[in-house]
Amino acid sequence: MCMTTDKVKVMKLEDLPLQIGKEVQLNGQSIAVFRLSNGDVRAVSNRCPHKNGPLAEGIVSGEFVFCPLHDWKISLVTGEVQKPDDGCIQTYETEIIDGFVYIGGV
Ligand code: FES
Repeated sequence: MCMTTDKVKVMKLEDLPLQIGKEVQLNGQSIAVFRLSNGDVRAVSNRCPHKNGPLAEGIVSGEFVFCPLHDWKISLVTGEVQKPDDGCIQTYETEIIDGFVYIGGV
């Protein structure tokens, strides 16, 4: 995998605990970053498509986050809201390089 110039270093991987979201601001966007129980790092929009709930404060289970406001279940892999609710959030590329988390495509 090669690093493109639009990737931005956002934090140390060790500062991202398993299943606890962290918010970062990039180019005026609020982005929620998560380390899943399988070790994958995912980055998505920090705004729930329902009523802008802060997803970084949600409960993570497997590859999903549950919005802290009204419990919508959202995939951190595809960004899709799970049924019976509907919607989608932006997902961002992530890469780990030398122990740091990079986010791209913002
Ligand atoms: S704001 Fe996220 S479920 Fe309502």
